[in-house]
Amino acid sequence: MRLGVCYYPEHWPESMWKDDAARMKALGIGRVRIAEFAWSRIEPSPGAYQWDWLDRAIDTLAGAGLKVVMCTPTATPPKWLIDRHPDILPVGADGRPRAFGSRRHYDFSSPSYFEASQKICTAVAARYGRHPAVAFWQTDNEFGCHNTVVSYSPAALQRFRAWLKQRYGSIDALNTAWGTVFWSMEYRDFDEIDLPVATVTEAHPSHRLDYRRFASDEVVRYNRMQAGIIRAHSPERPVAHNFMQLFTEFDHYKVAADLDIATWDSYPLGALEEQWFGPSIKAKWLRTGHPDFASFNHDVYRGMSKLPFWVMEQQPGPVNWAHWNPAPLPGMVKLWSWEAFAHGAGCVSYFRWRQAPFAQEQMHAGLNTPDNRLDLGGKEASQVAKEIDLVTMEDGDLPVAAKVALVWDYEAKWLFEIHPQGADFYYPRFAFEYYSALRSLGLDVDVIPASASMEKYKLIVVPPLPIVPDDFAARLAASEAQVVLGPRTGSKTGNLTIPAALPPGIDIAQLIPMRVWRVESMRPNVTENVDQRGEARHWRDLVEAEEGVQVEARFADGHPAILRRGSIRYLASLFDDALTQAIFQDAANAAGLDAQPLPDGIRISRRGPLTYVFNYTSSVYKVPNAGSFIVGQEDVEPQGVAIYKTA
Ligand code: GLA
Ligand code: GLA
Repeated sequence: MRLGVCYYPEHWPESMWKDDAARMKALGIGRVRIAEFAWSRIEPSPGAYQWDWLDRAIDTLAGAGLKVVMCTPTATPPKWLIDRHPDILPVGADGRPRAFGSRRHYDFSSPSYFEASQKICTAVAARYGRHPAVAFWQTDNEFGCHNTVVSYSPAALQRFRAWLKQRYGSIDALNTAWGTVFWSMEYRDFDEIDLPVATVTEAHPSHRLDYRRFASDEVVRYNRMQAGIIRAHSPERPVAHNFMQLFTEFDHYKVAADLDIATWDSYPLGALEEQWFGPSIKAKWLRTGHPDFASFNHDVYRGMSKLPFWVMEQQPGPVNWAHWNPAPLPGMVKLWSWEAFAHGAGCVSYFRWRQAPFAQEQMHAGLNTPDNRLDLGGKEASQVAKEIDLVTMEDGDLPVAAKVALVWDYEAKWLFEIHPQGADFYYPRFAFEYYSALRSLGLDVDVIPASASMEKYKLIVVPPLPIVPDDFAARLAASEAQVVLGPRTGSKTGNLTIPAALPPGIDIAQLIPMRVWRVESMRPNVTENVDQRGEARHWRDLVEAEEGVQVEARFADGHPAILRRGSIRYLASLFDDALTQAIFQDAANAAGLDAQPLPDGIRISRRGPLTYVFNYTSSVYKVPNAGSFIVGQEDVEPQGVAIYKTA
């Protein structure tokens, strides 16, 4: 019951279903996700529901002993619905509606889509809510995929104005909060406010940030509507959504608050190709993915999931959607699966059962080839299925007990995108690099929101966090943890203005008395030496340290680079990997944690009494001081996994 698969009965002749279901079961799969794109088959024309085929598909899966993850089909509104209500289509920054003919062609603010979604969700949930084989639900599919969170439609504008009114109360309050006197941008009424798009030069940053907050809230509202309908018709069944890897366009904490399970879709090779990584990193991890990429996402989604998080879609072979689509090395599908369980996953579900020979994703591998033979990914999934019982017996599903927390914030991404100040100031990259430095020291990490309670942590690492919650400094202090604050922390107020007392703001300056009086961004080929210990990149806060603050390292021109007061450290720049690792190691050791650099490409995770070892390299790794092995052995093969129990 710990493995799943994504299946599209509507893509295959019905004569294949029974055999598919039997082979899934035989492979060790327990859960089958269906129907997330099946609206045109469920309701081929308005109100004319066709349930018989889906009834039979579910019954066939149930007959083989499989449990179903039922989806609402709202990621793909059918053609007749769009033709009836063209206002469903989202509008691009160029003012043009996006066309029918792929997927996710809807606007979260469209009243007709909200209503149509209520109808179809109610129909599906009422039909299958109490079906004994329907054990879980997924709302929609990948909210925001293909850049669909922000839309510039008339409906969005109406709802945005109402949102602003709710937030500010009066137009004077908005004018003051934003500072619209600058460039004569003052408004007399909320109805005068336009969308922050198509302006001559950059639109007002506070206006833009509020628009991003609004767009995020629209996703929250839309998902809450679906979750509510499902719960009303399908009591006791957990509701999930499948989030995306390192996706930041809405506040995932807020959406997940309305779900039971946060799940995510893991495509490590596609991600490596599409993310910021330079050519040498892309070449180095070409067929394995970056050793910290999937882990980072596991830890992000574990933190916001009430029940154990899932990988709802696991890459099984080459994908179709990246610039280049290499095949994983043998062993990687198995390694990725085990890595998810090591980070606390409740289920790993592969995308998809069989490669489709038609349409957009015909070049995307499945567990089976289009001619229905088990592909390499399918073989590795069956190995995982065989090993998995050994481990669940041993760890009893114990939680990951991390002593280190990394703060991860969605608003920070939007704000730095609006005000980067340096073209490559990319928040997800910097948060990931901090995470990677911690993982390279063998530390287990919880990823938490800035609003979280911090008491159980010994080390708290804060990537650049421009807007800090009011009680953030107090919670950091109360935790008694070692704390590392990244540059630009506390650099803005909630309205996207500079704090009166200058960054990092009064509250953080009470923990570490200092003032950032100037900042500069650095071109990609420019670095600044830090006391011969390493190089600073991207950014410099020029800091005046006040009494009681120790300057632990300086830039070559004498400005403070690393500041410290007791357990609180402030980094005035983003340092190279080795220096970042060394700073975190010091902080971890000061916190009493055992942090030692691991060999390049080796990662470890702990869950209950078990230690998991992952070998991303191309040579055998010998595990030092291991206990008794449950999976694998002391010599871990390239792309191998070993799991051992400590006394
Ligand atoms: C996403 C989607 C799937 C499919 C895969 C392909 O994760 O949710 O429908 O398109 O990508 O990799
Ligand atoms: C920059 C700005 C100036 C002034 C100085 C202060 O150079 O262009 O307007 O704010 O910083 O150091």
